[in-house]
Amino acid sequence: MSVDTALRPHAEDAFAHELKALAAADDRPRPARWNLSPWAVATYLLGGELPDGTVVTPKYVGPRRIVEVVVSTLATDRALLLLGVPGTAKTWVSEHLAAAVSGDSTLLVQGTAGTPEEAVRYGWNYARLLTGGPSREALVPSPVMRAMAEGRIARVEELTRIPADVQDGLITILSEKTLPIPELGTETQAVRGFNVIATANDRDRGVNELSSALRRRFNTVVLPLPATVEEEVDIVSRRVRQLGRSLELPAAPEGADEIRRVVTVFRELRGGVTADGRTKVKSPSGTLSTAEAISVVTNGLALAAHFGDGVLRAGDIAAGILGAVVRDPAADRVVWQEYLETVVREREGWKDFYRACREVAP
Ligand SMILES: Nc1ncnc2c1ncn2[C@@H]1O[C@H](COP(=O)(O)OP(=O)(O)O)[C@@H](O)[C@H]1O
Ligand SMILES: [Mg+2]
Repeated sequence: MSVDTALRPHAEDAFAHELKALAAADDRPRPARWNLSPWAVATYLLGGELPDGTVVTPKYVGPRRIVEVVVSTLATDRALLLLGVPGTAKTWVSEHLAAAVSGDSTLLVQGTAGTPEEAVRYGWNYARLLTGGPSREALVPSPVMRAMAEGRIARVEELTRIPADVQDGLITILSEKTLPIPELGTETQAVRGFNVIATANDRDRGVNELSSALRRRFNTVVLPLPATVEEEVDIVSRRVRQLGRSLELPAAPEGADEIRRVVTVFRELRGGVTADGRTKVKSPSGTLSTAEAISVVTNGLALAAHFGDGVLRAGDIAAGILGAVVRDPAADRVVWQEYLETVVREREGWKDFYRACREVAP
């Protein structure tokens, strides 16, 4: 589907021009079947300017070293596991990596408690199986199997939610680089360029702990929360601008005050202390991730665009913030009220925000 009509184009389509310019400028050695060199993949993720003047937008904002480790892992025989709390861009980074390395981010297995073995290995087209018996034509390859055959990157989302016996299906694939097909007395061997990027949520620990056999096949990289307010405001502003463009909303002015407020509130509640370090606050039960801040601001922009004057104001984000903070109606409401009265109320220049919050939660 085209970039213009898809509600959410794949990374390789949305950033096709950047990838093309990078490939043209890239004269460093590329691992087998990679579209770009590791250096160019890192530049795609971190952003930069190319000799021909093309500006590569940053996709990931964070330590350069993390990106270097992540990209170089993919060039080894170990798979990559991105670990972190929700909203730290694990899925986002995984998609962009696959797009940059293989030109295809769609070889994806979504991990859930119900993910069947077929999603990791292969299944059968039953109509064909019944008429012709087991054959290559009757076999339905999983995204992982296709990635093996084509020498591309396969993505496994939320690996630890997948039942342990299905996870174990990955061990042979990652250690022997082959997928046996006993029904046909054959196998699919991985072509050079094949690798796996898995993501897992820190908070899911214990749901289905990775077996140590499987964990050994992965190089684990932890994606941190944004280090500073500035970094987080930057991340939110960029993403909101992008989303706003595809939703045809008015652009929020650069580093808008309201974005800074959302980020400040989220960081203070998350961290349990005000930005100046002076006042302790209680943390609510939700994660208050960067991803949630992005959606609060995007919803606020939609409100401002359709029911306001197009300018993002305190009243447009108050309800969104309340929704993100108060997950557990009893305990979180108390936490929020206390924060509102002890921190927000006293803060200089925040009167409008205080009033707007009081209006949505009297
Ligand atoms: N460090 C970061 N750099 C760039 N974008 C980020 C960063 N952290 C969060 N984001 C944004 O927040 C969202 C994270 O969502 P996602 O990748 O689904 O998180 P996760 O998979 O870790 O739960 C993405 O839209 C991404 O743009
Ligand atoms: Mg995710």
